[in-house]
Amino acid sequence: MTSTWTEPANTATALLLLGRGADPSSEKGVDCPGELPAPSDPDLVARATAAKAKLGSKVFVLGHHYQRDEVIQFADVTGDSFKLAREAAARPDAEYIVFCGVHFMAESADILTTAAQKVILPDLAAGCSMADMAQLQQVEAAWEALVDAGVADSTVPVTYMNSSADIKGFVGRHGGVVCTSSNAKTALTWAFERGQRVLFLPDQHLGRNTGVLEMGFDADDCVLYDPHKPSGGLTQAQLGEAKMLLWRGHCSVHGRFTKSSVDEVRMRVPGVNVLVHPECRYDVVTAADYVGSTEYIIKTIENAPAGSAWAVGTELNLVRRLGLAHPDKQIMFLDRTVCYCSTMNRIDLPHLVWALEELAEGRLVNQITVDPKTAAEARSALDQMLQLP
Ligand code: 13P
Ligand code: SF4
Repeated sequence: MTSTWTEPANTATALLLLGRGADPSSEKGVDCPGELPAPSDPDLVARATAAKAKLGSKVFVLGHHYQRDEVIQFADVTGDSFKLAREAAARPDAEYIVFCGVHFMAESADILTTAAQKVILPDLAAGCSMADMAQLQQVEAAWEALVDAGVADSTVPVTYMNSSADIKGFVGRHGGVVCTSSNAKTALTWAFERGQRVLFLPDQHLGRNTGVLEMGFDADDCVLYDPHKPSGGLTQAQLGEAKMLLWRGHCSVHGRFTKSSVDEVRMRVPGVNVLVHPECRYDVVTAADYVGSTEYIIKTIENAPAGSAWAVGTELNLVRRLGLAHPDKQIMFLDRTVCYCSTMNRIDLPHLVWALEELAEGRLVNQITVDPKTAAEARSALDQMLQLP
């Protein structure tokens, strides 16, 4: 059957300029130190295959759903960030975990694997701009503001997986939990059994969408904490009265989808189902028909009847793969124009070949490590997540 997939139009801002610069303390990371093979090398696939075969069971390759096709073909497991965290924790025999995803995911894998295992990120510049929006000093200042307002003891911190290890460590230290887009409601329910309010880091949209649409809070129960303003720009009364203190962070990729993209596709394709990721803005999520993690998006499309039409609001590599894999359904990108996560896209075949060949030659490259104290604190928040019902 011929695919109905239509490539969205290219624009100057197709690849958002994220992940630039060379700040080793940032989620954006640094440029790759290695001698990369040329992207035009016709033997890249054969080289990756050979290096992976040479490494055998010593290596396990994890691939997030937003990775390029050229990379995902070498993944032993693909998944959303929750599934990949579980998979990393479940592979104690693999000496090397090659993480085709972004920096915070590789950090979480390092925390969840044994001390003998090594986690490799093929390009150190594969960070996440959302994770960069919550820095430890800012979060500690926010907690001080809650202490000053007399409400820290009744506040439970919850951080989205898309945060650095030191933010997860902070959350673990203060008795909180990590969540992903597939378990945010369960994690928030757990948190509200332990406190009167939640400090939700760093994605305001996942926090608001879950709190209001899934937990039944009013929009007014959620207040935005702006880390660039004293006390987040909130009064002590606002800090104490809020149910959800939403950190002012967001995903620049999912922020590209608008309510007018939803209206436009509904006009253009009668009967279309709109399926979006919860990192999209509240007005987009409320206008959509279905909302969920990347894993949920894949399962929803797989289970959809032949002939149905779907406009999908998440990263383009995944939506294109779904479009091409399901020619019996009409799958389209929610926006008219191309939108990739540029930092996810940094892991390309040349970087993967380079990392695998170096490992196969016994040279450890691009290892992601988390210091033991941070790792222990972050682990308690990650373990708490993995134990959620
Ligand atoms: P999930 O994999 O949890 O759906 O998250 C998407 C994402 O943005 C990862 O960075
Ligand atoms: Fe970060 Fe958004 Fe890219 Fe996910 S899609 S890695 S949240 S910038």
